[in-house]
Formats: sequence, structure tokens, C-alpha cells
Amino acid sequence: MCPLGGWGLRAVFLSLLSCQGSGEEAFEVNIWSEEVAVEPGGSWTINCSTSCVQPSTGGLETSLTKNLLKEQTQWKLYLVSNASQDTTVHCYFTCADKQQAKWLNISVFHPPKQVLLKLQPSWVAVGRPFTMECTVPAVAPLSSLTLSLLRGEEILHNQTFQETAADPQNVTVTHNTTAHREDGHHNFSCQAELDLRPLRRDVIRSVSSPQTLEVYEIIQDNQMVIIITVVSVLLFLFVTSVLLCFAFGQHWRQQRTGAYGVQAAWRSLRRPYRAQPATF
Ligand SMILES: *[C@@H]1O[C@H](CO)[C@@H](O)[C@H](O)[C@H]1NC(C)=O
Ligand SMILES: *[C@@H]1O[C@H](CO)[C@@H](O)[C@H](O)[C@H]1NC(C)=O
Ligand SMILES: *[C@@H]1O[C@H](CO)[C@@H](O)[C@H](O)[C@H]1NC(C)=O
Ligand SMILES: *[C@@H]1O[C@H](CO)[C@@H](O)[C@H](O)[C@H]1NC(C)=O
Ligand SMILES: *[C@@H]1O[C@H](CO)[C@@H](O)[C@H](O)[C@H]1NC(C)=O
Ligand SMILES: *[C@@H]1O[C@H](CO)[C@@H](O)[C@H](O)[C@H]1NC(C)=O
Ligand SMILES: *[C@@H]1O[C@H](CO)[C@@H](O)[C@H](O)[C@H]1NC(C)=O
Repeated sequence: MCPLGGWGLRAVFLSLLSCQGSGEEAFEVNIWSEEVAVEPGGSWTINCSTSCVQPSTGGLETSLTKNLLKEQTQWKLYLVSNASQDTTVHCYFTCADKQQAKWLNISVFHPPKQVLLKLQPSWVAVGRPFTMECTVPAVAPLSSLTLSLLRGEEILHNQTFQETAADPQNVTVTHNTTAHREDGHHNFSCQAELDLRPLRRDVIRSVSSPQTLEVYEIIQDNQMVIIITVVSVLLFLFVTSVLLCFAFGQHWRQQRTGAYGVQAAWRSLRRPYRAQPATF
């Protein structure tokens, strides 16, 4: 009896110990957020919960604006808002004088709202270089951004960024290329893609307005020679005709003044003859 009773007591004691032990360890805290990436000014819900049956205190610790929407003993649901930069939110509960906490990182992204493409120069000869310059103001995070420069549907250049700064940045990509004869029939564009899939969001795409390139052919050397010859001949003919006009004009005037000369001579000849009979 005695050893059996001893066994029973020991078992009870052991089970009490382990029960007490598991009672201390078993309490957990969880944080669940509707979003882990938000736009500045957005609002979303965060559920802060625990497995502790009777927590003494608990809640959400954050620098963001928070409003308690609903609560029960084991969870609290908040509406948080006004995030302007990446931040960490903490959820904590105290159970039997022990505190546990969990935290969650919230990223703030700035979608590419504006994509601007410039072709320089926009009037270019076949085979000559031109520059595509794409600018996206105030975009973040750059590590999720890809800028693609396109001719029609064809990607001419892709650019990704290593930058880890969380602040929105103005980004510019330039790409030098040469003009093809058929480029005049294509639209050039720039596409910005913010891939937020790792942050439980979609890919956000934005495309610039289409830009066109005026492509012209450079006149070839032999064509140039023909043009110069034709222009020279025309110039020669023009100058010659002007000179001929001038010469004819002079000649005509001389003929007319010559006629007057004859009349004058006739008159001066007739005067002495008319005077002569008077003297006779
Ligand atoms: C909050 O989370 C707890 C634990 O997951 C869950 O039981 C509760 O229903 C949630 N509350 C809301 C409002 O979603
Ligand atoms: C939002 O955050 C800014 C600073 O980031 C603060 O000045 C402003 O008071 C906050 N607005 C609200 C409604 O909490
Ligand atoms: C959360 O942010 C902190 C500091 O901002 C960083 O050290 C940590 O690695 C981040 N954790 C995750 C899971 O992204
Ligand atoms: C360029 O980026 C786009 C979009 O991210 C991708 O679909 C494409 O495969 C990339 N092309 C090249 C040549 O890297
Ligand atoms: C980004 O560009 C805007 C104008 O588009 C300018 O006002 C701003 O200062 C620029 N920001 C940076 C960080 O260069
Ligand atoms: C493109 O060409 C211009 C000169 O035409 C040069 O200043 C610039 O550095 C070049 N850019 C690249 C990305 O090669
Ligand atoms: C180029 O863009 C203009 C304006 O959006 C459009 O009318 C035209 O059809 C486009 N041309 C081609 C070849 O895609």
C-alpha cells in the first residue's frame, strides 16, 4: 500500500509540476495585419491576440494612429492609419505576470503615379544616336522597381535598383540607341513596375504617354552632287538671263537715244540751211 500510495503521490506531484510548467510556457501572442505594405495615408486593421485565457493587460504599441474597433478577452482589433514611412508595430499581452510580444514590419510604398519619357533629339537621321530619358518622381521602395524602355512592344532596356532607402526617390534612366528607318512608325514608351508581391500586394504598373521619333534619311553623296549641279546650272541660267536682260535694255536705250541724235543732227543741219537764204 505504502509504495503504491507513494507512487501515486509522486505521479500527482510530477503532473502538477509539468502542468504548472506548461501553464507558464503555453501562452502565445499573435499579430495579424490585413496589410503589410500600405500607401501613405491608408488605413487598415490589425488583430492582436493571445492564447492566454485571462490576460491582465495587452494591446498594440505603435507610432501610428490607432483606434480600437472591437475586443474580447483574448484579442483586440485595431484600425491603424497615417503611416508615412516604414514602421514596426508591436502586439503584447501579460499573463500571470509574464509578458510576451510579437512585432510586425509595415512597409510604406509610393506607387509610380507619373512616368515621363523624353526622346532627345526627337528628330534624328537614320543611323544617328538619340537618347531615351525616363523619369519617375517620388517612388518607393526602389528595390521593388523595374523601369523598362520600350519601342512598340519590344523592351530595349530594363533597369532595376539596389537602393534600400525607404524614402520616396525621383528616379531617372537614360538609354542611348540609334535610329532605325522604321522607328518613325513605332511609339516609344517607358513602363514602371513596382512588384509588391513579396509584400502580399500586386504588381503596380504605370506607363508613360507614347512618344514618337521623327526619322529622316541622310542625303547620299552622289545625290548631293546631282543637287549641287542642278542648283548651279539654275543659278547660272538665272544670272545669264539677268545679264542678257540688262544688255538688251542698254542696247534698246542706245537705239532710242541714237534716233534722237539723228533728229538733233538733222535739225542742226537744217538750221544753217534755213538761215542761209536769209543771208542771201
Ligand atoms: C482576432 O484573432 C483571433 C485569434 O486568431 C480570432 O479568434 C478573432 O476572431 C479575430 N478577430 C477578428 C475581429 O477578426
Ligand atoms: C499623421 O502623421 C503626422 C506625422 O507623420 C502627424 O503630424 C499628424 O498629426 C498625424 N495625423 C493624425 C490624424 O494622427
Ligand atoms: C523589420 O525591421 C527591422 C528594422 O527596421 C529589421 O531589422 C528586420 O529585419 C525586419 N524584419 C523583417 C522580418 O523584415
Ligand atoms: C524586363 O522587365 C520586364 C518586366 O519586369 C520583364 O518581363 C522582362 O522579361 C525583362 N526583360 C529583360 C530582357 O530583362
Ligand atoms: C523630385 O522631383 C520634384 C519635382 O518633380 C522635386 O520637387 C523634388 O525636390 C525632387 N526630389 C528629390 C529627392 O530629388
Ligand atoms: C548617352 O550619350 C550622351 C551624349 O550623347 C552621354 O552624355 C551619356 O552619358 C550617354 N548615356 C549613356 C547611358 O550611355
Ligand atoms: C501611337 O500612339 C498613338 C497615340 O496614343 C496612337 O494613336 C497610335 O495608334 C500609336 N501607334 C502605334 C504604331 O502603336
